[in-house]
Amino acid sequence: MLRSLFNRLSGRRNTPAPQADPPQGCYTVCYRSEATRPFSEDEMNSLLLGARMRNVSAGIGGLLIHNRFRFWQILEGPQDYVEAAFARISRDYRHDNVITIERGPRNARRFPDFEMGELDISTMPEDDPLRCDFEALFSGTTESDKAEAAERLTRFFKWRKG
Ligand SMILES: Cc1cc2nc3c(=O)[nH]c(=O)nc-3n(C[C@H](O)[C@H](O)[C@H](O)COP(=O)(O)O)c2cc1C
Repeated sequence: MLRSLFNRLSGRRNTPAPQADPPQGCYTVCYRSEATRPFSEDEMNSLLLGARMRNVSAGIGGLLIHNRFRFWQILEGPQDYVEAAFARISRDYRHDNVITIERGPRNARRFPDFEMGELDISTMPEDDPLRCDFEALFSGTTESDKAEAAERLTRFFKWRKG
């Protein structure tokens, strides 16, 4: 009961990821975007609650890293469902400048345990280097700098939530 509540709040699945992915793997979309106005904590919580409910019923999952103004999201699961979710997300008036970073098949899910894991960078200490990594995803650094920053952020997420 308590575990189930904890799982619900952290975006972790209560049941294993559905085995609906095709045998050759799963499909992923990764994008970044900016809010049309910063989200309050309540608005963010309600966005996450709705997203997790829809993701669970579509068998998709992933990770959302944000500071309530900038978003970097990985969606993964069966192709049709991921594309349908991304189409809805792209139309959402609450954010714009939606830039696709990765879109295509992958061998396996990176976050099989999460219907939508979350990392709110704005809750981290001012001098935490992960804040710079997050900003690097949006600034004019090289693609390899961005990829390294994304790798450090996702590794931290897995370590913290692991
Ligand atoms: C940054 C961001 C991330 C979102 N992530 C998801 C998500 O993972 N899954 C989802 O169903 N909706 C997500 N949403 C909400 C969708 O944009 C949309 O509001 C929702 O799917 C309902 O779509 P509809 O209003 O067209 O029915 C997200 C919205 C934003 C702004």
